[in-house]
Amino acid sequence: MYLLIPAAGSGRRMGSERNKLLLELLGKPLIAWTLLAAEASQTIKWIGIIGQSIDWEDFKSIVESLNLTKPVQFIQGGATRQESVYNGLQALPIGAESVLIHDGARCLATPELFDRCSEALQSCDGLIAAIPVKDTIKVVDATGAIESTPDRSRLWAAQTPQGFSVSLLKKCHEQGRQKGWEVTDDAALFEQCGLLVRIVEGEETNLKVTTPVDLAIAEFILRQRS
Ligand code: C5P
Repeated sequence: MYLLIPAAGSGRRMGSERNKLLLELLGKPLIAWTLLAAEASQTIKWIGIIGQSIDWEDFKSIVESLNLTKPVQFIQGGATRQESVYNGLQALPIGAESVLIHDGARCLATPELFDRCSEALQSCDGLIAAIPVKDTIKVVDATGAIESTPDRSRLWAAQTPQGFSVSLLKKCHEQGRQKGWEVTDDAALFEQCGLLVRIVEGEETNLKVTTPVDLAIAEFILRQRS
């Protein structure tokens, strides 16, 4: 299985001047934890890190320090996550049929989650890791008034990894570019093209490190694991 790691964002919501994936969590940069989980996965054979050129030197020295056994390729990131993944898809080796896409910022995903997604992708063209939502969700209008309350039993919080047939996802990205669709995950492109996306049970601890509070929670989870 091929793995693309979008890692070309900034640390704006973290209040950091650098890419948040370079921030340390228990003595290792965030991206290192993501890479170690990919290394420990039994199914991932190739890793593409999508980053901004300003971060390449740091990413390269992190990869070297981890002594990974799997081939790692560095890919130029774009202005949005959607553009970064698009670049990643173009950089996949010829012959890559299926791909998992996993946000570098979800640095607590386990190797077992990668493997569960890889296995499930053998019997479908598109899937995402997701968990049932715990909160009641409100749809709110521009004035701050609640418009509706969706039935919680049908709501799932999307995570990554998200896995797809490479040829189909490339077509969806091309269509998205032509039609000007702006999406925050790849499943949304698949859905808008009328293709089926399945759910694979995600992990409650697979949080996306976005704010300083997330960093503190991630540290707590890692301490519990060790
Ligand atoms: O900003 P957010 O946390 O939603 O980003 C999700 C993932 O997408 C992060 O791992 C981030 O590094 C990546 N990203 C990217 N290219 C961008 C913006 C975000 O690869 N231009």
